[in-house]
Amino acid sequence: MLQIQENVPLKNFNTFGVAANARYFVEINHNTDLTELFMDPQWRQMKTLVLGGGSNLLLLNDFDGLVIRINIRGIEHRIKQNEVFVEAGAGEVWNDLVNFCVIRGYAGMENLSLIPGSVGASPIQNIGAYGVELKDVFYSCNAFELATGKFKTFTKADCRFDYRESVFKSELKGQYIIVSVKFHLSLIPDFNLKYGAIAQELTNRNITSPTIKDISQVVSHIRVSKLPDPSTIGNAGSFFKNPVINTAQFNGLKANFPEVVHYPAGDNLVKLAAGWLIEQCGWKGKVVGNTGTWKNQALVLVNHGGATGQEVYTFSSQIIDSVYTKFGVLLQREVNIIS
Ligand code: FAD
Ligand code: EPU
Repeated sequence: MLQIQENVPLKNFNTFGVAANARYFVEINHNTDLTELFMDPQWRQMKTLVLGGGSNLLLLNDFDGLVIRINIRGIEHRIKQNEVFVEAGAGEVWNDLVNFCVIRGYAGMENLSLIPGSVGASPIQNIGAYGVELKDVFYSCNAFELATGKFKTFTKADCRFDYRESVFKSELKGQYIIVSVKFHLSLIPDFNLKYGAIAQELTNRNITSPTIKDISQVVSHIRVSKLPDPSTIGNAGSFFKNPVINTAQFNGLKANFPEVVHYPAGDNLVKLAAGWLIEQCGWKGKVVGNTGTWKNQALVLVNHGGATGQEVYTFSSQIIDSVYTKFGVLLQREVNIIS
């Protein structure tokens, strides 16, 4: 029997630690819970927010609708020669799944170690770190369609993954709830060591032939040194995407700012480091009221205690304005804004 609670505080359900209440709140433990929930027209018609670990959203206000917290568990794995297929419930904690694979020698996810949040949210923005994106290990996912109450399997092509993008964040936004994700891994590692910081840390540790576990530990170490721990200081990771601009715009920018931090991003495209742009505008480590940017990473906005969602949002708009004024580059928020 589903338990629908009323007026539930969400402070502990979002890593920004913003205080806001959900008018209604339900926890989903099985696929059948979703079927049962949406048979009732009261809930079918209501505004909903699907919640995993709450590590990529900013709540602007109390949520006047139904918060659906996904807690579907279970991990299954199957080995076929050197290939490994792992399927996990959407409510599994992402890093628990990474550890499950690392311990067993299933290669592919090690660079994605220690990213907060749930398995079910991982395809939404095609999570990525240290040269690997979810799409590199994704096989398919199973999702519940709110309008029809039917389950549908999405292949990698269906998901239209891109940098911090998927079909679930664009055309199909709010239409599906992911209930499980299937991954394609390998018993033969093909390490992605293109990030200088990984190579440097391996050298520091005198590791010349790294294992999957070594890479996972090195990535975790780098992350901890840069990013604030949400259990002590509220944040949702990078607040903005790294902007991707065309070569012509880039050449104009580089003429004025020769030191601009950038990476190739495919045909005629260049990706800029938003953290650098923000730092150059003088925002790094700035405290503004209860919010500000992190002292080691200007791309991360933080809650110094008691910040409201509105306060963080207003601050993010100030950053967007100043980066645009100085560089002519428009930052886009990566964090999901919930109103
Ligand atoms: P939530 O915040 O709960 O939800 C995010 C969005 O997905 C919301 O729109 C929600 O409605 C939707 N959603 C959640 N679950 C489902 C579901 N089952 N079905 C349909 N929709 C769903 N991200 C990176 O990509 N790379 C990083 O390196 C990285 N580092 C981070 C570091 C820190 C310290 C923090 C706090 C965050 C970081 N993030 C990073 C962002 C975050 O970890 C990811 O976006 C993560 O996938 C969010 O998972 P979640 O379960 O917390 O999602
Ligand atoms: N930089 C600065 N000042 C700063 C921060 C960064 O100058 O305050 C410059 C530095 O030159 C640095 C470069 O920007 O070398 C890149 O910084 P970093 O390696 O920290 O990575 P990022 O581009 O800021 C991205 C992702 C992270 C991911 C890391 C590692 C986005 C929006 N962010 O950050 O993802 O963990 O790379 O791969 O793409 C997230 O999405 O929440 C997230 C944390």
